[in-house]
Amino acid sequence: MGFNVRTLLFITRNEGKVRELEELGRAHDIVIKQVGYDYPEVQADTLEEVARWGALHAIEIFKRTFIIEDSGLFVESLDGFPGPYSAYVYKTLGNKGILKLMSRIKNRRAIFKSVIALCEPSHEPVIFTGSVEGEIAKKAMGKEGFGFDPIFLYDDKTFGEMRRDEKNMVSHRRAAMLKLIRWIVEHKDVYTI
Ligand code: IMP
Repeated sequence: MGFNVRTLLFITRNEGKVRELEELGRAHDIVIKQVGYDYPEVQADTLEEVARWGALHAIEIFKRTFIIEDSGLFVESLDGFPGPYSAYVYKTLGNKGILKLMSRIKNRRAIFKSVIALCEPSHEPVIFTGSVEGEIAKKAMGKEGFGFDPIFLYDDKTFGEMRRDEKNMVSHRRAAMLKLIRWIVEHKDVYTI
């Protein structure tokens, strides 16, 4: 994709997310620059709503173009829990707690979902979503990545056992980021980052 290097501000305190988006952006001449700021996360039923409210809050503060990302783990047999509450559940129950909740459950199907909001002053945020299907492992495996990675089984490995480039080949964040990049490329005549 032959367009000039652009810098995209990414408002987050999650270094793991930054490393992943940096690597994905690099392949398309997009430089991701982290801005460490905690925007308020509203309690809402969907990641899209959480991202949209975070975006509208942050745009008042930064008054320039940036992205934010909200993500979560949706476990089918737990009716999509923890979903939009993933950050809180990770902090409180952690991987151990999820494994305990799942100890007698046969259906272990789960989805990771990522929502990226591209935000510009005076515009509605543009939302890009990506997901990946996997299973909740029987035990935590691997030390790579962050959050629920060690308990999210994709094929025969957990995300915690994959190098970043391997996870970046299949992840929910990759799917959302590629949609964002496609959007930027399609709008490059009218859109400057
Ligand atoms: P938030 O997007 O900051 O609300 O946080 C979502 C939470 O979901 C994180 O704290 C992680 O625990 C979890 N999560 C989101 N994406 C991933 C991922 O790619 N790997 C592992 N855990 C994730």
